[in-house]
Amino acid sequence: MEKVISCKNIQKNFGVGETIVHALKDVDLDVDTKELLMLVGPSGSGKTTLLSIIAGILNQDGGSCLIQGSDMSQMEEKQRIAFRGENIGFVFQSFNLIPTLTSVENVAVPLLIKGVERHEAYQIAHDLLGKLGLESKYERFPKELSGGEMQRVSIARGCIHKPSLILCDEPTSFLDHETGIKVMELLTSIQQETGCTLVIVTHDPRILKYATRMAKIDDGKIIPFSLEQSKE
Ligand SMILES: Nc1ncnc2c1ncn2[C@@H]1O[C@H](COP(=O)(O)OP(=O)(O)OP(=O)(O)O)[C@@H](O)[C@H]1O
Ligand SMILES: [Mg+2]
Repeated sequence: MEKVISCKNIQKNFGVGETIVHALKDVDLDVDTKELLMLVGPSGSGKTTLLSIIAGILNQDGGSCLIQGSDMSQMEEKQRIAFRGENIGFVFQSFNLIPTLTSVENVAVPLLIKGVERHEAYQIAHDLLGKLGLESKYERFPKELSGGEMQRVSIARGCIHKPSLILCDEPTSFLDHETGIKVMELLTSIQQETGCTLVIVTHDPRILKYATRMAKIDDGKIIPFSLEQSKE
């Protein structure tokens, strides 16, 4: 069966000459449908870089990355944006909320792009924010929110359109234990409902138990990793 993610020999460098950083040296990664892959690794090991390449936000320098058999690096910009909007939800490490939009408006963006009628999109955004405990923050702008509140708005935006692949970069880093669990329960309930695939980059040992598989990035390569190893 076709893999949801199929990365082969991915290489990514930043800079040139003496200051070059080999962020990804030779990454192979296959992810099947309905997996919940937790990706761990030290700071600076290339986790965000890899997630960005999988999302088609960044182009690799070598190797190939197919999403459901499609190669976003070969697409025209317009086609790539449409493919991403249809198939992928991305929860950024630094949230990337639109500063001039309220929480509800930010969360509704992926639905509006898909052509859902505004009133309906806002209603769905409202309900999703409510599930994440943000009832009192619907009309707030990002600058009026705490880090953990912005993070939850970003998570809601990443999954509102029920994409077949949801990529989350440290989705619980600003959350207390209880709220982090609430987020994981929401993501796994969406997975059960839609059969989507989840890849979650994390440093948070409290959420590792939700993984169906774990992998570690080390020295620009992916190595298998287990829940038992994470406790060492
Ligand atoms: N735009 C960039 N320009 C130059 N170097 C970069 C750029 N983006 C990332 N890097 C470098 O690439 C390496 C991998 O960065 P990346 O952000 O992928 O790490 P990470 O594993 O996500 O780390 P963290 O856990 O701190 O978020 C680091 O050495 C980083 O400094
Ligand atoms: Mg990162």
